[in-house]
Amino acid sequence: MLDVNKIRMEYPILQSGVIYMDSAASSLTPEPVLDKMTEFYHQYRANIDRGIHQLSQRASEEYALAHEKVARFLNAKSDEDVVMTRNTTEGLNIVANGLKWNKGDKIVATVMDHHSNFIIWQRVKQRHGAKLEIVRPNEQGLFNLTDFDRAIDDSTRLVAIPHVSNAIGSIAPARDIVKIAASKGALTVIDAAQSVPHMKVDVREVDCDFLAFSGHKMCGPTGSGGLYIKGEMAEQIEPSYIGGGTIQDVSLGEYQLTSGWRRFEAGTPAIAEGIGLGRAVDYLTQLGMENVRTHEMELGRKLYEGLKEIEKVKVYGPEDPENRVALTSFNVGDLNPHDVALALDVSKKIMIRSGHHCALPTMKEIIHADGTARASLYIYNSVEEVEVLLSTMEEIARSLG
Ligand code: ALA
Repeated sequence: MLDVNKIRMEYPILQSGVIYMDSAASSLTPEPVLDKMTEFYHQYRANIDRGIHQLSQRASEEYALAHEKVARFLNAKSDEDVVMTRNTTEGLNIVANGLKWNKGDKIVATVMDHHSNFIIWQRVKQRHGAKLEIVRPNEQGLFNLTDFDRAIDDSTRLVAIPHVSNAIGSIAPARDIVKIAASKGALTVIDAAQSVPHMKVDVREVDCDFLAFSGHKMCGPTGSGGLYIKGEMAEQIEPSYIGGGTIQDVSLGEYQLTSGWRRFEAGTPAIAEGIGLGRAVDYLTQLGMENVRTHEMELGRKLYEGLKEIEKVKVYGPEDPENRVALTSFNVGDLNPHDVALALDVSKKIMIRSGHHCALPTMKEIIHADGTARASLYIYNSVEEVEVLLSTMEEIARSLG
């Protein structure tokens, strides 16, 4: 069980009376993470892997330790398998830009993908003559495995899936999809931006080749994130950037890249952010990811069921709470979702996201609307806050007559 009252004390923003329900866009950052970043600036502010002096040594150790922590959090085999990035988008682009594509390579993606895991594959199609096939879920955003079985064939080079839809919160059966892909010799890349912060994700159990996530959605600082690359797969990815820190050797005629995460982290990295992400991972581990999931399932059920009961409110996403995270997308009568979000902010300081959520294919093909209002919850949200949202939404719906 999470002690929500205690957790809330660690977030100064919440002391102002704000009801923050936009954690799918970016979570809040707790004091212990901010303290850890300040520790870097106050005590060992220096570059990493570039100095023999004690400040550089300490910074290097802390930054490498952060990789270890994130690797352990994901149950990666080695800390060398986790590259620090700025966000999920950067991680996915590293894969799309780094693989050597052949004309006719097939990529399988889905209607539920965020633009960051969709337009990059459209670009591979344009640039390299790849083929792109799109798998559709049902109207609740749930996939049928036989559709993947049909779409993935011998020419499929890569399968790209969202572990959890950022638009409607539906959870994809990642392990089963990876199994189908692997049985046909295809690589798999998972957009885990909306899963890693909210549930235990074990990369060895899922057995994917690549998995990208954002630190700023899991109590870490903005500008932090990670890309898991399964062991030897790193050699198949040409890094988007090379330079300082990425080499084994350089001579006048040639260069040799190093291995592991250093191969991909060219130049001085975001050191404080990486160390902050390491602390965020400790913070979530201390809370327990099972407890995080249990708390969110309870809150998510109240949110979804409560909104669904309000006349004129239409909710989207899976009905079974097992199949979704604590994120509900909805519309109210003919109201523009941006007006709904503004009304919630102005009347009760409730922060939600509105619009297409960078998932236009999902809006066009599944939601059949230009956008939705979206409330997304996290560890610091309380039952009382959900009740305030629901009663305010009742008032808004009633005002429509
Ligand atoms: N992808 C993030 C969201 O869903 C930014 O809001």
